[in-house]
Amino acid sequence: MTQDEMKQAVAQAAIEYVEVGTIIGVGTGSTANFFIDELAKIKGKIDGTVASSVASAERLKGHGIPVYDLNAVDGISVYIDGADESTRNLHLVKGGGGALTREKIVAAVANKFVCIADESKLVDYLGKFPLPIEVIPMARSYVAREIVKLGGEPVLREGFTTDNGNVILDVHNWEIMEPTKLEQQLNNITGVVTNGLFAMRPADILLLGTPDGVTTLK
Ligand code: 5RP
Repeated sequence: MTQDEMKQAVAQAAIEYVEVGTIIGVGTGSTANFFIDELAKIKGKIDGTVASSVASAERLKGHGIPVYDLNAVDGISVYIDGADESTRNLHLVKGGGGALTREKIVAAVANKFVCIADESKLVDYLGKFPLPIEVIPMARSYVAREIVKLGGEPVLREGFTTDNGNVILDVHNWEIMEPTKLEQQLNNITGVVTNGLFAMRPADILLLGTPDGVTTLK
């Protein structure tokens, strides 16, 4: 099975978690795109979606799937999204596509967070994938210095602006052994909007694509 076939398989498997007559949270990235295409096949069964990025909203609308502002809905039954890394505890690194802030907001609101990923994303500990941090532009240098004090090596994502008008620092060379603690430490740096650690609110379920089929981790 190719990596895309594994992504396709987990996207199909995630449809099982879609609750009829509710609002579905939809993530961002290539795996989430496979899910959007699957969701289109059953679009009549849901009330609509909240998207974690402009790009996903456009793809959903392209399929004729209603997309709502988060402030216009009462709740989200389930959030389906990919990840850049996951541990077996379902702690995640996200934000490779730069949508981490809206992803974290939608995950916070959702009753259930189902992560979909191919097996390359499963890791023993987080940090090999550079950790994305969304930062208010004027605080970029200050935040970078604070991250260096915490042991990371921040690199500005050149030529990239988030949907919220901010910049991303990708932090290299971190072996993240205490993701919840680091998530809180990063949140406490003035000028940080969001960091890509999803440990305080991990996924509830990970659907992992393998050459033998989809494995479910809870
Ligand atoms: C976007 C994300 C994505 O979920 C993450 O980058 C995984 O993307 P892909 O499914 O393309 O591997 O966090 O901000």
